[in-house]
Amino acid sequence: MRLETPRLVLREQLLEDAEVTNVYERDPEVVRYQTHGPRTLEESRAYIADVLAESARTPRTLFDLAVVHREEGCPIGRCGVRVTDVGQREATLWYVLDRRCWGQGFTVEAARALLAFGFGELGLHRVFVDVDPRNLASARVAEKLGMRREAHFVENALLKGEWTDSVIFGLLDREWRAAQP
Ligand SMILES: CC(C)(COP(=O)(O)OP(=O)(O)OC[C@H]1O[C@@H](n2cnc3c(N)ncnc32)[C@H](O)[C@@H]1OP(=O)(O)O)[C@@H](O)C(=O)NCCC(=O)NCCS
Repeated sequence: MRLETPRLVLREQLLEDAEVTNVYERDPEVVRYQTHGPRTLEESRAYIADVLAESARTPRTLFDLAVVHREEGCPIGRCGVRVTDVGQREATLWYVLDRRCWGQGFTVEAARALLAFGFGELGLHRVFVDVDPRNLASARVAEKLGMRREAHFVENALLKGEWTDSVIFGLLDREWRAAQP
């Protein structure tokens, strides 16, 4: 599977990506609000292997794609959707980017392509993002994607030994379509 945007290509992850993806996966700032800590190279490889194994299942519910910078020709992050409820056509979206590429609109560009795929080819009804409210950049990305702030759960997640809140942003297929040019 391959999605293209003006500056990026979203493609399946490859085991050999691990050396590059580990550069941001071992960055404490990048993984600060994620469920895992900085990863070793082996852990980055194992993550990709797990993604590939799960992506091979039928029906496929996981689309966790490498975000490749067209000019650099290598992954600068990843962006994914997982169908969380097949019957209700619902999925969750996430995004992670190498810190040296933050603030250039790459994540919004990548996530828009994935949302188009989700609402188009997958026929999703609703996509949501679960954001730690301290993660202002992530919340801003959700807003820029046209997502609505739907809920704020208090201390519903134990993240690295600390109770943390979750803000849920949601987007429906009809809202997505209405916002398309
Ligand atoms: C969240 C993340 C993917 C955003 O990547 P990015 O490519 O920098 O995102 P974009 O450039 O497309 O958009 C970022 C927006 O957030 C804003 N932003 C960034 N840091 C911010 C902050 N501390 N406070 C408020 N807004 C902030 C940017 O200004 C930009 O908005 P603007 O275009 O209106 O100015 C990146 O910060 C990251 O990888 N974080 C670590 C992983 C993570 O937490 N992922 C989220 C899990 S769902």
